[in-house]
Amino acid sequence: MSIYRRVGRYLRPHRARFVLALSLVALSAVLEIGKPWPLKIVVDEVLGGKPLALPWARSLDSEALLAAACLGLLALQGTLALLGVYLNRLTIGIGQRMVSDLRAQLLAHLQRMSLGFFGRRPSQDLVYRVAFDTYAVQSMAMNGLFPFVTAVVLLVGMTVVMIRMNPLLAGIFLAVAPLLFLTIRTVGRRITSLATEQRETESRFLSETQRGVGAIQVVQAFTAEARERERVMDASSRALGSAFRLYVFETSYSGIVNVLIALGTAGVLYAGGRLALKGTLSAGDIIVFVTYLASLYGPINSISQTMGLIQGSAAGARRVFEILDAEPEVKDAPNARPLAAVRGEVRFEDVGFAYGAGDARAFSLEGVSFEAPAGALVALVGPTGAGKSTLVSLLPRFYDPVHGCVRLDGADLRELQVRALRATIGIVPQSPVLFPATLEENIRYGRPDATPEEVQHAAELAGVLQFVATLPQGMATPVGPEGQALSQGQMQRITIARALLKDPRILILDEPTSALDAETEAFVMRGIERAMKGRTTFVIAHRLSTVRRADILLVLETGHLVEQGTYESLRRAGGLFQRLHEAQFLLTPDAVAEGAS
Ligand SMILES: Nc1ncnc2c1ncn2[C@@H]1O[C@H](COP(=O)(O)OP(=O)(O)OP(=O)(O)O)[C@@H](O)[C@H]1O
Ligand SMILES: [Mg+2]
Repeated sequence: MSIYRRVGRYLRPHRARFVLALSLVALSAVLEIGKPWPLKIVVDEVLGGKPLALPWARSLDSEALLAAACLGLLALQGTLALLGVYLNRLTIGIGQRMVSDLRAQLLAHLQRMSLGFFGRRPSQDLVYRVAFDTYAVQSMAMNGLFPFVTAVVLLVGMTVVMIRMNPLLAGIFLAVAPLLFLTIRTVGRRITSLATEQRETESRFLSETQRGVGAIQVVQAFTAEARERERVMDASSRALGSAFRLYVFETSYSGIVNVLIALGTAGVLYAGGRLALKGTLSAGDIIVFVTYLASLYGPINSISQTMGLIQGSAAGARRVFEILDAEPEVKDAPNARPLAAVRGEVRFEDVGFAYGAGDARAFSLEGVSFEAPAGALVALVGPTGAGKSTLVSLLPRFYDPVHGCVRLDGADLRELQVRALRATIGIVPQSPVLFPATLEENIRYGRPDATPEEVQHAAELAGVLQFVATLPQGMATPVGPEGQALSQGQMQRITIARALLKDPRILILDEPTSALDAETEAFVMRGIERAMKGRTTFVIAHRLSTVRRADILLVLETGHLVEQGTYESLRRAGGLFQRLHEAQFLLTPDAVAEGAS
């Protein structure tokens, strides 16, 4: 389907208003054609004393005719002005509705996309597509189409009138038209590619700037300001460069068009002048020709700009459709079913997973099989990069396994509705994500309809209340980039409270307490255990104190599940866990004390 037909589909819901706008556009073009006629009547009939061509006006004397012509002129301009205002409101209204529809669709689509998709694209680029590229449908349909229709009606109408007045003059003008269109066609293509390039470099510059500002702490710590500036400015000059090329090209383009227009005007003026001298044309006819000439080239110019505009917008529309056409990797199967009561038994069967695509991709998980009974506390341990976070991200189907399958209560996750599945899972991600909102709102995000008591309870279990007491505004303290700065451990506890408030059947904790001291950690873990009694919990942890409590331990190493069992069975099994265990023995005195007890 062509890009134009596709944009046209967004017009469909507004077709009634669109047809109205279109007819009004045509009407105002016709009025525009009538503009020189009052003047012609005055010059030829009132001043020139020529017999009137219009039968209804024969009864009028000269003065009345003069007054009628002047009033007619005023009425014409007045109607055109009113029509103009109304049309603008109408067309902008339609255009904005289209943008709004497209944005809603694009956002909904983006939200369905898998994490893999977001991993491959800078978020700034996606933001640009949602915020700016969506205007393309408005400018294509409204700023492009309507001037185009006006221009065509004007051109055809004027040409018809001119041919009836003097075919030769009309012929001269029409000879220039193909030249103009040729210029438009060839140059238009180049403008499209320049406009695409400009959008892309602009979007890249935005994400570079975002990167530089977002990581300011690292930049300052490593005194990388100069390097960072160079990178951002490099992207900036690239973006400015392509904007410059586009601008220069566009203006030289209008320059060429104007010269062609002048060529036609000169020709018509010359021939028309000679005819008038011979007496073949009346003074009023010349006025009509001159007026038309002045406005005749307007529409052609507008068509030429319209083409550039439509082609430029098409670039934006394509960037939007590119996202809409991307299929979410994780989505509901056609026969996906909702979840009945969830027990929370999780089984991995020979699961293999790789982030990338293609044959050369490295598998982050291979041949992982285990079974976690409903209600179990499962601890995942293993060196960094072993695949712990990857493993738990398969549970809410952030990704699907490449082979093997993950089952919940015996059902392959791919048979379940994604939303229903995710509704039963609470997650505390490895790096805490807080929204710029109050502490309470951040916790409430887990379940917006929770009562204040429930929020309070979740906060208490997660150890949030401990530090909230020290904040003057308490739970109403704004956090995030513009609010109260929080420590890593405080943020972790808020995200834990958020997950607990959701009251999930399955809880996933990715190093939830890594930033907490041993005492606070023990407190928070006790809260989590209390909240999760009888529910399945996956916890990734390095601390022995957490690991020891687990019903099952899964030991991962470079994507393989190398050991599984209870703490007691693994600590002397002579495998990786024993090595990790002993290493921690030596490092942390409290672990020694715990190990000895
Ligand atoms: N989004 C991603 N895209 C591509 N590869 C990834 C992605 N996330 C992780 N990996 C790769 O998958 C492997 C496992 O990573 P994972 O994050 O699961 O490790 P981990 O055991 O959680 O480590 P850590 O203890 O440091 O959190 C690593 O080799 C990593 O490079
Ligand atoms: Mg991890």
